[in-house]
Amino acid sequence: MKKVIKNIIVLVVMVVALTSCDRSKRAPNLQYMPNMYEPVGYETYGDNPNYTPGMEERLPVDGTISRGSEFPYDYENTPEGYELAKTELKNPLTEIDAERAKSLYTIYCASCHGSKGDGQGTLATREKFLGIPAYKDREITDGSIYHVIMFGKNMMGSHASQLTEEERWQVVAYVQELKNN
Ligand code: HEC
Repeated sequence: MKKVIKNIIVLVVMVVALTSCDRSKRAPNLQYMPNMYEPVGYETYGDNPNYTPGMEERLPVDGTISRGSEFPYDYENTPEGYELAKTELKNPLTEIDAERAKSLYTIYCASCHGSKGDGQGTLATREKFLGIPAYKDREITDGSIYHVIMFGKNMMGSHASQLTEEERWQVVAYVQELKNN
């Protein structure tokens, strides 16, 4: 009799031990004192955990630029904005990577403007696109070239989304080179 009881006890212990381990893998493990692991306060760069629609979001402080985003371009897409950029803006790059500048120009601009910047790109010579000027015939500056890349001009579309800020300035330098040679 004693042996039977002992066996039952052993069985019960085993069953408890086994079933207690048989928790679904999908369910989270028990977590004691979750506040130890999951902060209830604000994460430095996190979203507001208590955000509800209508509540004021934590927007970046005025005059700051969030990490990884581009420097804002403040000139407007108007003739006045063009003139202002033309006189004020200077190429901020201190190092021009001539090879990369040329290859970016070849990819994005040469089809219209031609490899020499004379307005004789493939699209021009095949008469798919008309009115493309030679850079030499235009009074252009660093700023005006950058502005035109940002917003386009008349028949030329904006190329802002194809090039990063740094790449645009590389291309600006290359256009200046074509204009002056
Ligand atoms: C689809 C054809 C096309 C492509 C591609 C193109 N352009 Fe143009 N571009 C034009 C035309 C057309 C004009 C003339 C716009 C006008 O003044 O009416 C022009 C004008 C310009 C001017 C002179 C603007 C001024 O202020 O007088 C510059 C500088 C210029 N483009 C630079 C570029 C650069 C840099 C790229 C490449 C990132 C590029 N373009 C790509 C068609 C193109």
